[in-house]
Amino acid sequence: MSDRTPIDVARNPADLRSWTHAIRTKGQTIALVPTMGALHDGHMSLIAEAHRHADVVIASVFVNPTQFAAHEDLDTYPRAEAKDLEMLENAGCALAYCPSVTDMYPIGDKTRVTVEDISFILEGEFRPHFFIGVATIVSRLFIHVMPDVAVFGEKDYQQLLIIRRMAKDLGLPVNVVGATTIREPDGLAMSSRNAYLSNTERRNAAGFSQALRHAVHQLETGQSISDAIATAYDAIGQAGLGKIDYVAVRDAEDLSGLGDGLLPSGRKARILAAAWMGKTRLIDNMPVMRK
Ligand code: PAF
Repeated sequence: MSDRTPIDVARNPADLRSWTHAIRTKGQTIALVPTMGALHDGHMSLIAEAHRHADVVIASVFVNPTQFAAHEDLDTYPRAEAKDLEMLENAGCALAYCPSVTDMYPIGDKTRVTVEDISFILEGEFRPHFFIGVATIVSRLFIHVMPDVAVFGEKDYQQLLIIRRMAKDLGLPVNVVGATTIREPDGLAMSSRNAYLSNTERRNAAGFSQALRHAVHQLETGQSISDAIATAYDAIGQAGLGKIDYVAVRDAEDLSGLGDGLLPSGRKARILAAAWMGKTRLIDNMPVMRK
């Protein structure tokens, strides 16, 4: 038998608010980990990080329709609530917030949150709806939960920067913390969408992160940005990823461009990429800095 405290589940904002009110009355702080469920070890590392920042950890589990375009996988996105709740309980999460679509998007809803510019580059060029959906749902989750801290994975690096900007611009008093990407032993970044990969695709997908790792090495040892990107394109293609949406080397704080030449010494940068393995779109990114 587990010695864990059973997890509480709030299925609407009113139940959530009476729960968080009781926590705050005790003077305890709250960390929120927003998720879309289909949890894996990457999410568990976010919960562990959240425990380092607050007394109580809440995870939200909500597959957010506004971040899916009509042709994307909203209907087939993996859903596994019973397993998710068990994993959250084992990770010491005190409450799962599992609202309905109409709790998050009331009938007649007309309000969207857009973080200009940064939402429409890189991922945003290929999925222009995506960050509007993310900023809208995360701002609503922040307003419902009113957490002191919220933890997001660096796996979705652009999302992390956009949420930081959004919280700052809206004056939401939440500390947005980024947590390092958790990888499979062969280097593939953990993602709920990895479940879509066939066995062969899954084996080959390791080549994606390996190509980025190699590019990081090239950039840090003085090869030009254009050469490192060209080599990464070749390696990703050879790993069997058919369509490459982008491979880019950008400033780590605001994703601005760094040109084609040498990575400026001492500048914190990030290599970011998205590519298709069959019908599954993979994204990944890594920190890079030339001394
Ligand atoms: O990263 C995710 O899983 C989602 O984009 C998020 C932040 C939970 C918003 O739906």
